Amino acid sequence: MNNKTSIQGSWASRWIFILAATGSAVGLGNIWKFPYITGENGGGAFVLVYLACILLVGIPIMMAEVFIGRRARKNPINALKDVAEESEGSKSWSIIGLMGMLAGVLIFSFYSVVGGWVLHYIKIMLTGEMLGVTSDQAGAAFGGLLEDPSTLLFWHTLFSIMTVAVVAAGVNKGIETVTRVMMPALFVLLLILLGYAMTTGSFGEGWDFMFKVDFSALTWNSALIALGHSFFTLSLGMGTIMAYGSYMTKQASIGKTVLTIGALDTLVALVAGLAIFPIIFANNMDPGAGPGLMFISLPVAFGQMPFGQLFGTLFFVLVGVAAWTSAISLLEPTVAFLVEKFKIKRITASIALGIVVWALGIACLGSFSFLSDVTFFGKNTFDFLDYITANIMLPLGGILISLFAGWVVKDKFAQDELQLSNGMFKLWNLSMKFTAPIAVAIVLYFLINPLS
Ligand code: TRP
Repeated sequence: MNNKTSIQGSWASRWIFILAATGSAVGLGNIWKFPYITGENGGGAFVLVYLACILLVGIPIMMAEVFIGRRARKNPINALKDVAEESEGSKSWSIIGLMGMLAGVLIFSFYSVVGGWVLHYIKIMLTGEMLGVTSDQAGAAFGGLLEDPSTLLFWHTLFSIMTVAVVAAGVNKGIETVTRVMMPALFVLLLILLGYAMTTGSFGEGWDFMFKVDFSALTWNSALIALGHSFFTLSLGMGTIMAYGSYMTKQASIGKTVLTIGALDTLVALVAGLAIFPIIFANNMDPGAGPGLMFISLPVAFGQMPFGQLFGTLFFVLVGVAAWTSAISLLEPTVAFLVEKFKIKRITASIALGIVVWALGIACLGSFSFLSDVTFFGKNTFDFLDYITANIMLPLGGILISLFAGWVVKDKFAQDELQLSNGMFKLWNLSMKFTAPIAVAIVLYFLINPLS
């Protein structure tokens, strides 16, 4: 084990690392995407496959990212370079870090737009604008928002500034402070919503939907979606976890820590589902409504229930916080790189990067109005960036990281960081060399060439 620390700083304790990494992992992927893809893919069996993927692919890759970052104590590009060099591997492996940074920037540009939608919904829930709306009215309200670039620009700008401000403040003052306050608040808010869901009279129905395993509802394609999502939800494949790992204390056990993060991320997704589905069923709505599930159906549900204004506002605040702590993590690897490479101040690097992602975000928010004619391979800018990052860049990053950790890094160095029992190390190594890359390669193949 080494005694180096990152010039960016380090987490105050193992728990702060867990909170920060969980803050990154828990985001729109858990609260918005997980429930709607579970709804679209028939519930129980899909959830089971998703859980298996988290455990068999996600957790081992996350361990690899953490140890690479912690071993080098540098930004992902330099970390990969150093770790490769130590094992006499090619320095070209650092290209994973470069691709990851690009993925982070591209993801941020549409993530911030969706973060902006959430901020807008906090406002309209708070003012009571959505009280008593029908599903048609809620649909029209959401459609109207998409076609209103000036409103979108306002919220996207606010969301970008909020994120850049935290990143600029640095690892200890910025990310850590926000995380320390916000993550516990997030759990409390979710539990309140779960408590509410239990009073709707449809909790059993929601529970059965998520946990009653019916394999006849599972298609090969759903299984692939589950694997892909397990990847996205844990923030893997682009160096986020590598950068966060570089600030981790050297005493902490990577295996236990990563298991905790995976468990917390999964818990939040499951609790979000358990809070949302009973509300959907109690209001006779369709669980398979798709991406509109949260922004269209939930305001209708909240608009009808007692204290709906309060619970609706709380819910969107919760989603906003989750999106915020994830967005921070999308910028952190690149800011760390700019600071270390060009010896510039963190605040300068953050603002420079912030301007780039903010401008790219404008291209995304215009996709629904003034830029709707701009398409790449038949997709508007927003959908295109979502597609190439989540479906191509992250899985590719994941394969490369596991191959690197399994085949290039010498076992003694990996084990020096991981400190696993012999059996567990063999299992992890097997996963890096074969299971994870093969599984991700299959997903990647079928995402590019859909089955039906
Ligand atoms: N995991 C986050 C979510 O579920 C999104 C996210 C943040 C992410 N950082 C990432 C995804 C890095 C992939 C890579 O919303």
